[in-house]
Amino acid sequence: MTNFHTIYKLSLVAVCCFIQANSSSSSSSSSCPLMECWFVQEKTGRGGGLTGATTQEKSLLHISTDANSHGESQRVPSDISPDRVFFVTDPAATLCHRSLSPPRGSIIKPQCEINPYQPHPSTLKWVAPLTESAFSPIYLQADWLSASLHGINNEVVISSIMRAPTGTKENNVILSVTSKTVSVKSRLGKPVTLDCNFWVDRSSPLSGSGFAVEWRYQFRGEGRLVAAYDGKTDRIADTQEEGAILDFESIHEKGNASLTLQEAKVRHSGTYICTVYLPYLLAQVVVELEIVEPPSLSIHPSPLPLAVPGQTLMVQCEASGFTPLSLELGWEFKGSDGKSRRLEPGSLTGHRQAWDGTYSQSSRLELDTSKTDLGTGGELTCVAVHPGGTQQASTTISVIGFSTPSIEDSMAMVGVALVLYGLIKFMSWTFTSSGSNEADKQQKKEE
Ligand SMILES: *[C@@H]1O[C@H](CO)[C@@H](O)[C@H](O)[C@H]1NC(C)=O
Repeated sequence: MTNFHTIYKLSLVAVCCFIQANSSSSSSSSSCPLMECWFVQEKTGRGGGLTGATTQEKSLLHISTDANSHGESQRVPSDISPDRVFFVTDPAATLCHRSLSPPRGSIIKPQCEINPYQPHPSTLKWVAPLTESAFSPIYLQADWLSASLHGINNEVVISSIMRAPTGTKENNVILSVTSKTVSVKSRLGKPVTLDCNFWVDRSSPLSGSGFAVEWRYQFRGEGRLVAAYDGKTDRIADTQEEGAILDFESIHEKGNASLTLQEAKVRHSGTYICTVYLPYLLAQVVVELEIVEPPSLSIHPSPLPLAVPGQTLMVQCEASGFTPLSLELGWEFKGSDGKSRRLEPGSLTGHRQAWDGTYSQSSRLELDTSKTDLGTGGELTCVAVHPGGTQQASTTISVIGFSTPSIEDSMAMVGVALVLYGLIKFMSWTFTSSGSNEADKQQKKEE
């Protein structure tokens, strides 16, 4: 009886603990994350000038959607200075994205970096109208931070500008820019949309004074302006980029500054930077676009000439229209037994680039029929392995005079002979009968 009693008690305790653990975990997952970030700032030299070097300290961001819900500060880990603990209020909940709160114990972690931020007017043509009045509001005199976050699995990138009244660690998000297309792959010729959305704190004095949006492209040191829009005067900048579209209505109504490229081209592969400007502030996110197109394959000559045993067949497989330049070309042979096997790789030619930026490359196979057992022939396949997918092209090989005909072949020959015989019979019958018809007619006319 006592035993039963203890078991009963123990199970009750277990249930209690389970419920408690459950409720605490669910409450922490529904709220915004407690983010560990690197606080990175430029080292100030002895003379007050910048040395160019940076310092990096661990910091902690308590994120919440509501300023009042920042509870008593929890224990600060010993390796984080209390000076580097910040309370962030983000009414838009941008920083509460699920990819910033990975499951506990997860090995992959979101990345976060914060930096001190200095508001300043921009001189760019499409941004300058935002700060025309030329005086900086007193509102700018505060502690500003910029935060850049990268969610797990490339789900989202976020850049936020936050303001805290001087000397406090109570930061309010003023501007956030996000993208959910952190790394995009697109086929050639398809429309592709690069996501960029922004949010502005309506209660900030900077929010009523307009904004500007800019998309820049960067690849191996080369940069160009893709699109820019001054939302204050409703003007777009002249760019050389054709087929790059911003939806101005959507920008104004939803803060959706996504860029659509109507037709993906090879030269579109690269890094894109979406920058959103408020007067004195800017935040930007970086996304990657890669154009991936698998090759088209063709085999020459096709069909292959009949092969005589001992002869060396020269076959070429040409892969064209592919990008990026990363290709493996191989050969397979499937004999009459239905089994596929790999042949030795052919010799790969150098690549060529077409006018549209796509590549072509060939593999030359020297197939020595005396060394490779091809039987009576079969199917020769060229296999191209490419980041865009594996492609195949096949042709038939026939080897003649190889051996005595197989049973199937003999039966086929008998069949053919029978058909031929029948055909000849039929033809001669129709011929003679039509001939006799003619003769009949002739006779009738004469009568
Ligand atoms: C933003 O606009 C693009 C097209 O410009 C659209 O594809 C996308 O769904 C929009 N995103 C949101 C969140 O509305």
